[in-house]
Amino acid sequence: MEIALRAVRDSDLPVFHRQMTDPEAVRMAAFGPGGPCGPEAFAVYWQRLCDTSDVLRTVLADGAVAGTAAVYGVAGEREVTYWIDRAYWGRGVATAALRGLLTEAPERPLYARAAADNTASLRVLQKCGFREAARARGFADGRGREIDEVVLILEGRTGER
Ligand SMILES: CC(C)(COP(=O)(O)OP(=O)(O)OC[C@H]1O[C@@H](n2cnc3c(N)ncnc32)[C@H](O)[C@@H]1OP(=O)(O)O)[C@@H](O)C(=O)NCCC(=O)NCCS
Repeated sequence: MEIALRAVRDSDLPVFHRQMTDPEAVRMAAFGPGGPCGPEAFAVYWQRLCDTSDVLRTVLADGAVAGTAAVYGVAGEREVTYWIDRAYWGRGVATAALRGLLTEAPERPLYARAAADNTASLRVLQKCGFREAARARGFADGRGREIDEVVLILEGRTGER
């Protein structure tokens, strides 16, 4: 499968809405849009991500819209985030997308946060060179309660270590 990143198009948004309100994905991510929401509420969430993003990309898998990848936040504390359509899980899409994102965003350090039980996301981050920096506890909209989260950091050059 060929994985590529491109600029977001307005026509991608209904696809992102479906992907990012998928109940299984919402539960897994824990932090994010936080469950079922209509197109208007999703548009508010999306606009906030756009406003705070440094790099915001559509992930393509063989040309189809497979998800999103972004670097957002203030300089010096920027974080990566990504979301892949459940239909593509377990096929290396997130790992390839994050690698691509890291080449487009050379700033280091970069940070990431993942629910402590989001094994897949933690593995993606580890494969791209992120290391655990801290543990925290926060309210997760996708679970409706406080959960443990892992804060990770990527220092130095991009790539697998
Ligand atoms: C987390 C997520 C991005 C992973 O995407 P993906 O394309 O399936 O990831 P990859 O195929 O690149 O897999 C990366 C690693 O995770 C592992 N993995 C994938 N799904 C897994 C699962 N459900 N449980 C445990 N490990 C899993 C893969 O085996 C692979 O490790 P390996 O190379 O050692 O075998 C995707 O499940 C997703 O979008 N979830 C909902 C949103 C989310 O959680 N975003 C991240 C917020 S921090």
